[in-house]
Amino acid sequence: MFQHVEQYAGDPILGLMDKFASDSRNDIKVNLGVGVYYTEDGKLPVLECVKAAEAQIANPPRPRGYLPMDGLKGYQQACQNLLLGKDSQAVVEGRVATIATLGGSGALKIGAEFIHQWFPAAKCYVSNPTWGNHISIFEGSGIEVGKYPYYDAATIGVKFDEMCEFFKTLNENDVVLLHPCCHNPTGVDLSDEQWDIVLDIIKDKKLIPFMDIAYQGFGENMESDAHAIRRAVELGLPVFISNSFSKNLSLYGERVGGLSVVAPSQDEACRVLGQLKSTVRRIYSSPPAHGGAVVDTVMNDEVLFEQWLGEVYEMRDRIRDMRQKLHDLLSAKLPERDFSYFIKQRGMFSFTGLTTEQVVRLREEFAVYMVENGRMCIAGLNNKNIEYVANAMAEVLK
Ligand code: LMR
Repeated sequence: MFQHVEQYAGDPILGLMDKFASDSRNDIKVNLGVGVYYTEDGKLPVLECVKAAEAQIANPPRPRGYLPMDGLKGYQQACQNLLLGKDSQAVVEGRVATIATLGGSGALKIGAEFIHQWFPAAKCYVSNPTWGNHISIFEGSGIEVGKYPYYDAATIGVKFDEMCEFFKTLNENDVVLLHPCCHNPTGVDLSDEQWDIVLDIIKDKKLIPFMDIAYQGFGENMESDAHAIRRAVELGLPVFISNSFSKNLSLYGERVGGLSVVAPSQDEACRVLGQLKSTVRRIYSSPPAHGGAVVDTVMNDEVLFEQWLGEVYEMRDRIRDMRQKLHDLLSAKLPERDFSYFIKQRGMFSFTGLTTEQVVRLREEFAVYMVENGRMCIAGLNNKNIEYVANAMAEVLK
């Protein structure tokens, strides 16, 4: 019956979590694979603002009815405030359609389905490289996916001129998938000036920017990490934005994300919202209630919101600290090599330039887990494991 069903090769990131869990070298193993923040004690944190919100939600216990297809109003508002700014003209004019989604992946999926239905000729272009699931999600929705030049291994920077020239060759209504901050997997971002240039080209060529922001707050801060989004809106572009609270609220398993579409008019935003809801209905009906309530509570309570910002910046700063320490340790061990990329890159990830063979050696010989494309999740490092990791890396780099 199922002989024709092909074996699943496994996911390069989530599959690593399974491998890591079943590795019996418990005393030494280090997980630098999946994009998850761990504390200095190697634990997945429950943020204090989340504990406080959950205490509020639990007392008295709330009934668990279905949420609306597009989620809670306070949740939608929270997404809009964070992404577009509190005084956004587009929000005031009612031109933003926002829905709560099943994580950032759910936002991308609903967005991709919408694009396939309403812009059937559009192709989607992703950065080379990008988060692998971008390609799977868009292709899975029947959209042809291409790649635009991005990462430059020679300079550990962006192939900026090539990227701009490439965008000039695209067709009207083609989608360009952009990472406004903390590029996944490279950690290499555009400067604000470069964003402004790219967005002018996007406007000129009438392309559709799809901004995927899963690490807001981990780059510089909540506001400047949203520069590209806000600039695109200022330029009057129609913008798709997928966002995630998985990382910045440490609510990975609650599946809390959002999709916002900024339209030229209120009437169009209303049509878009209706179609997004219809897409939600035919795929999963409505978003989860508990995670939605936590996000709504934290984001719409002034005290909890301030507490949240502090907790995000604490995570950001610990990651920066680990970047500096790993840089210093490796530079001392292999002085002939340049490890400055650890300090220059932003967010949870560092593209180390390690080859697949070296990554496999790290895993098999040292129980240090990284994605095979050489991506390291810096947020898995701490003062107890960093020397061990640096020694292991130095060993495979020799
Ligand atoms: C990652 O890139 O590791 C995270 O976004 C988790 C995932 O779903 O891949």
